[in-house]
Amino acid sequence: MHQTAHINEAKDFILTKTNLRPTIGMILGSGLGGLADDIANAVVIPYSEIPHFAKSEAVGHANELVIGELEGKIVVAMKGRFHYYEGYSLDDVTFPVRVMKALGVENVIITNACGAVNTSYKAGELMLITDHLNLVMNNPLMGPNNDELGVRFQDLSKAYSPELRELALRVADAQGIKMQQGVYAWWTGPAYETPAEIRMIRTLGADAVGMSTVPEVIVANHAGLNVLGISCLTNMACGILDQPLNHEEVIEVAAQVRTSFVALIKGILKEV
Ligand code: 6GU
Repeated sequence: MHQTAHINEAKDFILTKTNLRPTIGMILGSGLGGLADDIANAVVIPYSEIPHFAKSEAVGHANELVIGELEGKIVVAMKGRFHYYEGYSLDDVTFPVRVMKALGVENVIITNACGAVNTSYKAGELMLITDHLNLVMNNPLMGPNNDELGVRFQDLSKAYSPELRELALRVADAQGIKMQQGVYAWWTGPAYETPAEIRMIRTLGADAVGMSTVPEVIVANHAGLNVLGISCLTNMACGILDQPLNHEEVIEVAAQVRTSFVALIKGILKEV
């Protein structure tokens, strides 16, 4: 359970570094952190310095909080996130979302690199997350509830804000960016799924599969934040093509969609 005191210590520390008060949070997935380079008047805070933040070591992540201005909005961006597969608790994985809320954030854009399960998708496309499957069957809200932070039994019927989804679709359309819409399934990793598991995941109703996002989305909902989820489909999931998967390819393809990803997020920020 997140302790209010810990959240406030992290928030107070961050507020000693900047006078900016962010209203939009962003979690930038593997290979997508480059967006943070466009943030103006940026204050960069390594996670290792922030009280009660865990340390992240995933390849392709810088592990720092970037606060500044982007498209006229004050944003707080996570360059890199904590993954469950690294051995962190779901409390550690989702703590930064609590801190964003404490900083005054109202809308959070949660991104990731993931595998395409829907065979009509193509590697390098973006996907607007409409809903998710929690296949990990663990939940960041497990344990005693901190009633100061949210309710015991969290509703997830609109976990991905319909208003923000509509806005994202409008921006993508206006910019001629092709964006799929689908269901994201959370798998622990760090091993990728087997071909049989991908067939199962497809049968269960998912269009994409990845190793993140769902815990942060659940906690963001618990915190009363509006969530926009955007996936970069970096590769076809296992068994679709006769090709082994590797993380280098994931990072490479995510970097290739940089232009459309950055344009999309900036267009959304302008109007949110
Ligand atoms: Cl195929 N699976 C998972 N779980 N995560 C991924 C992926 C696949 N491709 C990129 N990230």
